[in-house]
Amino acid sequence: MHAVGVIDWDRRLFDALIPLPHGTSYNAYLIRGDEKTALIETVDITKEEDLVRNLIALGVDRIDYIVANHAEQDHTGSLPMMLELFPNATVLASEKCKELLTLLLQVPAERIQAVKDGEQVALGGKTLQFFMTPWVHWPDTMVTYLPEEKILFSCDYLGSHLATSDLFATDEVTVYETAKRYYAEIMMPFRSSARSHLARVRSLQVDFIAPSHGPVYNRPAFILDAYEDWTSDAVKNEVVIPYVSMHGSTQKMVDYLCGALIRRGIRVKPYNLPYADVGEIARALVDAATVVIGTPTVLFGAHPAAVYAAYLVSALHPKTRCASIIGSYGWGGTTVNQLSEILGKMHLDIVDPVFIKGYPGEADLTALDQLADAILAKHREYGIVASQ
Ligand code: FEO
Repeated sequence: MHAVGVIDWDRRLFDALIPLPHGTSYNAYLIRGDEKTALIETVDITKEEDLVRNLIALGVDRIDYIVANHAEQDHTGSLPMMLELFPNATVLASEKCKELLTLLLQVPAERIQAVKDGEQVALGGKTLQFFMTPWVHWPDTMVTYLPEEKILFSCDYLGSHLATSDLFATDEVTVYETAKRYYAEIMMPFRSSARSHLARVRSLQVDFIAPSHGPVYNRPAFILDAYEDWTSDAVKNEVVIPYVSMHGSTQKMVDYLCGALIRRGIRVKPYNLPYADVGEIARALVDAATVVIGTPTVLFGAHPAAVYAAYLVSALHPKTRCASIIGSYGWGGTTVNQLSEILGKMHLDIVDPVFIKGYPGEADLTALDQLADAILAKHREYGIVASQ
């Protein structure tokens, strides 16, 4: 196996949505059999010249198969050009991926061979075997196994947005944090699918997991064990608090609630939304038992940043079990109802919000202590804090 993908050191945003503080890579791999040569994935269209350069460096003058494990353009943007350069190449993809490639990239259907779960393609002394792994994170996703070298090419699944010159995940501390963030942003909305495919991967003899973003795992248990943890139903004794404050009332409430929770032995992760990195919030939501959104009232409703945070929580669909709302208003509004409606889609345990008029006084701080007590009681109910 030869790594022929490209590192994108400078990319800072994905899907016009996800911040990439550590850049990313578009991994592609060349497999040479005795008779046929296969390219696993291509790269983002902005990097197609680099892919060509990497193939030239290896003296590649023929590609028989291009495996597209997933149709998203960061892996297939260069596919049309590859098919022009290698006119005899056939794309191997799932049935759904075939449909998407014809739709999104206008790849001629006759250039694509749809493969089924478990199907094998012989390269001569080497074999590609395909396993369908839908919904990690599109309906088309599959993984490709190379049994002779015990490598699993997992595309997005198990990957990380990390630009690094390390081929392997040697710096496991950094890779763990970036892979967890990646899981939170990309895979968490599909947690049950991400979990269900782990058993399939573990049933194969795998020495290397080669994703299409971030380094190759030469210790597969590292990432598989992490996914077992992240995708499990187990939550941690933590409260994530995305909040925004305009004149200090909500800030005072957040600060007080943080102290009250800490005094009760609960870990807190507050995020001041105008300055926060949404990827960090997403990562914090992977484990936290509770989320509390803090907001002032603007134009009779929640601050737009708080609406965005509630929508983000709902869209990422973490395993969080409990929620509440804190904040203040000057003369009225529908803030609590507005945010409750967004969070309500998640069927969480809702602890009574603390929504006050003006700057918090002693009675309001007492109400925040009661909120902290109620959250602690919920965490006891979940079995993550010992009962008294
Ligand atoms: Fe890395 Fe879903 O594309």
